[in-house]
Amino acid sequence: RVPLRVLAERKGFGIGAAATLGPIRKDENYRRILSEEFNQLVTENEMKFQRLQPEQGRFDFSKADEIVEFARSRDMRVFGHTLVWQRGLADWLKAGDWTREELLELLHDHIDTVVSHYRGKVYAWDVVNEALAPDASLRDLIWLRGIGPEYIDLSFKWAREADPQAHLFYNEYDGSGWGKSAQLKVDALYNLLTGLLERGVPLDGVGLQMHIGLDKPPSYEGLKQTLERLSGLGIEIQITETDIRLGNSSDSLPKKLAQQAKVYGDLIRACLDVERCSGFWFWGVTDRYTWVNGITGTPEDPLIFDRFYQPKPAYDAIAREL
Ligand code: XIL
Repeated sequence: RVPLRVLAERKGFGIGAAATLGPIRKDENYRRILSEEFNQLVTENEMKFQRLQPEQGRFDFSKADEIVEFARSRDMRVFGHTLVWQRGLADWLKAGDWTREELLELLHDHIDTVVSHYRGKVYAWDVVNEALAPDASLRDLIWLRGIGPEYIDLSFKWAREADPQAHLFYNEYDGSGWGKSAQLKVDALYNLLTGLLERGVPLDGVGLQMHIGLDKPPSYEGLKQTLERLSGLGIEIQITETDIRLGNSSDSLPKKLAQQAKVYGDLIRACLDVERCSGFWFWGVTDRYTWVNGITGTPEDPLIFDRFYQPKPAYDAIAREL
């Protein structure tokens, strides 16, 4: 077969996977598939706040550096995930009783230190992740409470100052997959990004997370409409963090795998059909290692390679669209 990465590169398209260091170190098959099939790599966990700054002022880049080196040696673009997020925060930060000035300094110091460390090595950053709550208001988190909504503007500004070349993304979640039923969230996202751009905040792109299940998959049309609307902002778009859970319907496994393949095909096609949509991500490489088995408690097999590294029908669907 022709690897996805080769197909994608013919169109200048990004095909990415989230990776973690454990299997990169110990699993030869994982390493091989990761670097043969994908041209973008995002750090699934190793660049989250608590991992990089486990104690105040003490940064630990060792694990993230190892992943970045792996990706660079295989000519993969690295996306750094993520500078600002409500989860993945360090305990010392959550436990502290900080003034506004102190929080501004902590946030600036974290962003400046991390982005400077990876200047020239990380292609793009998820600067702010999931700042919107499900009801479309700004999510209540330490930075919003202590600094105010301008923590978002400042994060982008500080990231730009630390690495003027890196592409700066805002990444957002919606469990319904950004189709019609996500209108409230799409409106909120659109308004948030419009505000950033109007205020001159250095924003280059938006990532749409795609953690979904087969029970209510988004349609090609629904996603495409959302992508076209966001394209109007004039920024780059990537479909990020895709995994499609098989769910627990009574359908046979082959039927579910065929449905999963169809949804994967629809989603990547919507992206390929919109000019500003420049890349598509899987939140993992193989069903052997995926975070959703842990959160739902049942095997969800949400990715395009099975537990034995065999390409699934979803893989073929992606390859056909590319
Ligand atoms: C998840 C990882 O996959 C898990 O391994 C970890 O335990 C928790 O975080 N949205 C995001 C990602 O932006 O960072 C999350 O990743 C999944 C949801």
